[in-house]
Amino acid sequence: MVHSGVFIVLEGLDGSGTTTQTGRLQNWFNSEGSVFGKCFATCEPTAGPAGSITRLALNHRLSLDNRTLALLFAADRADHVYKEDNGLHEPGLYPLLQQGVHVVCDRYLLSSLAYQSLDLPMEWILQINTQAIRPDITIFIDLDPGVSERRLQESRLNRDLFEAASIQQRVLAQYEKAIRLLQNEGHRIIRVAGDQSEEQVQRDILKEVLPLLQKQLRE
Ligand code: TYD
Repeated sequence: MVHSGVFIVLEGLDGSGTTTQTGRLQNWFNSEGSVFGKCFATCEPTAGPAGSITRLALNHRLSLDNRTLALLFAADRADHVYKEDNGLHEPGLYPLLQQGVHVVCDRYLLSSLAYQSLDLPMEWILQINTQAIRPDITIFIDLDPGVSERRLQESRLNRDLFEAASIQQRVLAQYEKAIRLLQNEGHRIIRVAGDQSEEQVQRDILKEVLPLLQKQLRE
């Protein structure tokens, strides 16, 4: 799809630092990176209608069948990408990208492929997400599941649905499969080591993102 903003996605296990790095990237765009133009930082699940229901399920306040949850994540994504600016909420990612705004998104399609395929066929998850536009780059913050678990223990009182210790190892295996699947379809997915300082992780991310921004500036 033709658009002029750069669409950047951050992915990784729970506790891998995707939220921290999304915030750091946004701060960078607002300071040193401002020469490259505006950035919109966002996350999935969103605070929209479908995203709010998925959050209830993630927090164990609502019990949903796994298929229904997968469809809700996909619906939330479609809304996130395509919703129109009616003055009540932010426009969708696609119109923003078309306007030349860069987008940094904390989790996206790869999360659905990795987490929802724990108990559903990955091909089906891909099918229900065919309307999700392709990111220009997906950065996978690579972290040992043991470290992910330790970080969650230190930072969380109550565990979300997918944050259990035993699950992280399985999620990582699904991430590996999903990365291969999307790379075979031509997605650009790169890995950054997550067991480093926040500053170093950010430098590694910028090393991958800068060439895309410089290219966009030249076009
Ligand atoms: P997370 O991104 O860690 O947000 P928070 O910091 O608010 O807890 O949590 C989102 C959880 O949702 C995470 O465990 C991954 C899961 N998830 C899916 O299972 N499928 C998806 O498509 C997305 C976007 C997230």
